Amino acid sequence: MKNTIMRNWIVAIVVIAVVAALVVLSGLFRTSSVAPQAQQTLSPERMQTLIPRGRELALAGDCFGCHSMPQGPMGAGGLAIATPFGTLYSTNITPDKQYGIGNYTRADFHRVMRDGIAPGERNLYPAMPFVFSHITTPDDIDALYAYNMSIPAMPIANKSNTGVFVLPVRPFMDFWTLLNFPDRKVLRNDQRSAEWNRGAYLVEGLAHCGSCHSPRNFMMGVEFSRSLQGGEVDGVVVPDITAAALAKRGFDVPTLSTYLATGMAPQGTSFDSMYTVTHFSTSAMEPEDVKAVAIYLLTGKDGKLALPAASPVPLPQAAVPKNGTPMAAGRLAYMASCAGCHGMEGEGIPNVSPAMKGNAALAMDNPQTIINVVLNGTPTQIFKNGERMYAMPPFAHRLNAPEVADLVTWIRAEWGGQTVPVTVEQVSAQETAVK
Ligand code: HEC
Ligand code: HEC
Ligand code: HEC
Repeated sequence: MKNTIMRNWIVAIVVIAVVAALVVLSGLFRTSSVAPQAQQTLSPERMQTLIPRGRELALAGDCFGCHSMPQGPMGAGGLAIATPFGTLYSTNITPDKQYGIGNYTRADFHRVMRDGIAPGERNLYPAMPFVFSHITTPDDIDALYAYNMSIPAMPIANKSNTGVFVLPVRPFMDFWTLLNFPDRKVLRNDQRSAEWNRGAYLVEGLAHCGSCHSPRNFMMGVEFSRSLQGGEVDGVVVPDITAAALAKRGFDVPTLSTYLATGMAPQGTSFDSMYTVTHFSTSAMEPEDVKAVAIYLLTGKDGKLALPAASPVPLPQAAVPKNGTPMAAGRLAYMASCAGCHGMEGEGIPNVSPAMKGNAALAMDNPQTIINVVLNGTPTQIFKNGERMYAMPPFAHRLNAPEVADLVTWIRAEWGGQTVPVTVEQVSAQETAVK
């Protein structure tokens, strides 16, 4: 008797699970958020007038930073995006009819930007940041469409993805979206300035800053409840860019705007994946939009701009380290390996290398990002207006883990106000990731 009840229960649960899975897989719950008027085509004149606005939005959205190879034709795709499940390639979004999106209707384009679904009910992978572009207004999507259709068509075939992405997994993305794609709305606040509202619209939408700066769950879904509080990309810790954290690391509206508009500021230069953001996206945006982003980021919950903290003073144990301590060893290593470029006093050299004094990277709570810079160095990077810095050499093969630990401990205590020593384990963990 008991067994039969048990069996009936199990059968019932299995049936419910299968039905639920079929409902999800059929995409029934994935209603479209595209406005009905998107079905009508836009007149060629309307398309023409929308192009300049579309270009600005495409820059803010870094569409072509991601949809182009570094040297390749604009929009032809092919950029590799590594994920824990395999490599995805960005696709050709030029108006080529065979290989690109030349056959897209206005409504097709809206559906990609708002719902993450390509023609033929093809679920897109969230490497395309549709969870962010979802909040873009229909008018702005029209502008993006007009601009996108105006660039030269490139007959270049898409590359094949690898890993699990070779399997027919697209339909299963329905489960992912069910759990990770909330119907977000534009953050509008009439108590705040037009600039704040514009900044919120860009940061939380097209500019998708949170795709790197927000934590992700185990499904790689963005945790919007902890928006911009810091994340991780390719094993590199991405800093918290909420108002209090930015102000603590010394940013105010002018310096943050300069950082985004040029890639360099008294708080340091952009490097790693942030370099691509400043290089392709924020440095090409209109100054008003960049300022709006800075104002939005630096406005606290109370609606006031967070006040920048003064550069931290050197901790006593770093300023005058006792002989034989790790601090003394770290200071010596800095003088031997780094001071030639970054200065004895951490003052840096204009057009050669950034200052360490006042550098926001040293004030990050997690030392992992700078450990990575020291181990891997940085390539020569070109900043706005052709400004450039030297390349920073990698130190992975010149300094051992204890030396790097002492060195990073010292520079953080000297210029970053960070008291917690860096351990050999923290360095070793990064050494295995040396590129
Ligand atoms: C972080 C990288 C990234 C950014 C930024 C990005 N995309 Fe994408 N996009 C992708 C990837 C990867 C795919 C392919 C996803 C897939 O295969 O499921 C894609 C797919 C697309 C598609 C679908 C093409 C098709 O297969 O039919 C369109 C259209 C598109 N993107 C347009 C844009 C526009 C417009 C922007 C800027 C607002 C943009 N993308 C920004 C990575 C990006
Ligand atoms: C040959 C000159 C050179 C040497 C030697 C050098 N660096 Fe650098 N370093 C640079 C340059 C140039 C950058 C900025 C690269 C960029 O963003 O384009 C940089 C960036 C950095 C950064 C990231 C902060 C920022 O604002 O970009 C840190 C941290 C850093 N260096 C620490 C060190 C340490 C520690 C050493 C010694 C182990 C060292 N550097 C040795 C040239 C050098
Ligand atoms: C592709 C990933 C990625 C995206 C997208 C991204 N960032 Fe970053 N960001 C990083 C990484 C990695 C760092 C750390 C390296 C550095 O400081 O240059 C960083 C650093 C920063 C810093 C410097 C913080 C400090 O204290 O040194 C600021 C400010 C910043 N990002 C703002 C933004 C804004 C605004 C956006 C959206 C327009 C954005 N980021 C989008 C990866 C990203």
